[in-house]
Amino acid sequence: MNLRSIRLVCFSPTGGTRRVLEQIAAGTGVERVTRLDVTLPGAPAGFGEAGGDDLLLLGAPVYAGRVPEIAMERFAGLRSRGGPAVLVAVYGNRAIEDALQELSALARAAGCVPVAGASFIAEHSYSTGKGPIAAGRPDDKDLERAREFGREISLRLRGAERVRDLREPDLPGSPELRERPVFPVMGPVTDPDRCTACGACEQLCPTGSITTRAISETDEAGCILCAACVKGCAFGARALKGPFISKIREWLGENAAERREPETFMASRRR
Ligand SMILES: Cc1cc2nc3c(=O)[nH]c(=O)nc-3n(C[C@H](O)[C@H](O)[C@H](O)COP(=O)(O)O)c2cc1C
Ligand code: SF4
Ligand code: SF4
Repeated sequence: MNLRSIRLVCFSPTGGTRRVLEQIAAGTGVERVTRLDVTLPGAPAGFGEAGGDDLLLLGAPVYAGRVPEIAMERFAGLRSRGGPAVLVAVYGNRAIEDALQELSALARAAGCVPVAGASFIAEHSYSTGKGPIAAGRPDDKDLERAREFGREISLRLRGAERVRDLREPDLPGSPELRERPVFPVMGPVTDPDRCTACGACEQLCPTGSITTRAISETDEAGCILCAACVKGCAFGARALKGPFISKIREWLGENAAERREPETFMASRRR
């Protein structure tokens, strides 16, 4: 089958997922790519129904072994008339656990047929200069692998007459999906000596939890601890601190320091 278009759909507070998906799309060679980035509040709810020859390229970061709840809510409007789906979980060098299973179930519920999946690594949301975790990733090698994966998807689909001729890939994780942990109600703090009240962090917040007054202020009840505002402040004025985040950073430093590589999972041909 030939693809008519790619519908690139992502949630990506710190941009790692978006970068990987763009390279996968580029690797397919399909010219028509439409994008639905649901990271910010007020993003459109969907594209309208995709056709059988429109590929849904769906990606999200891994939060505690799952897809962030807010991303699942914002993906809920996706619909397809039996088109193929490629699922991508981007993680901070610890583990993806059930995230690909969760994306796959969502794609099926939207009417798609999952034909491929992948895990890629991006800099961890809680990486810092002093405590780097997957810093600088996705790097050139990751992005080349993403383009190669795009080429592989294209070849596999061209080799099948219909998407139903393909057997869904075996994806890692459990379809039962682990419980989401309860995070403490907290948010980044602003250093009043550094904050210029420029408002950039407010524009980046996926949950609309920042208000800029004399300095940026956070509504902790809405914060998902994504670190978009921390990484996006050009003045280094925002930081995630405190025992909860310190413990995670310490654990990651001890257990997630060794470089992991992307993994891909492809549909096979039915005989
Ligand atoms: C609340 C939270 C939970 C996370 N849980 C995991 C995890 O379970 N495994 C992992 O490897 N990385 C985890 N990460 C790191 C992100 O998956 C990683 O930083 C990813 O690159 C973020 O994607 P983005 O750049 O598209 O926003 C977590 C990050 C946050 C903010
Ligand atoms: S981006 Fe930084 S400097 Fe600008 S308002 Fe936010 S915290 Fe202040
Ligand atoms: S305030 Fe919280 S939800 Fe908003 S960008 Fe910062 S860390 Fe993310």
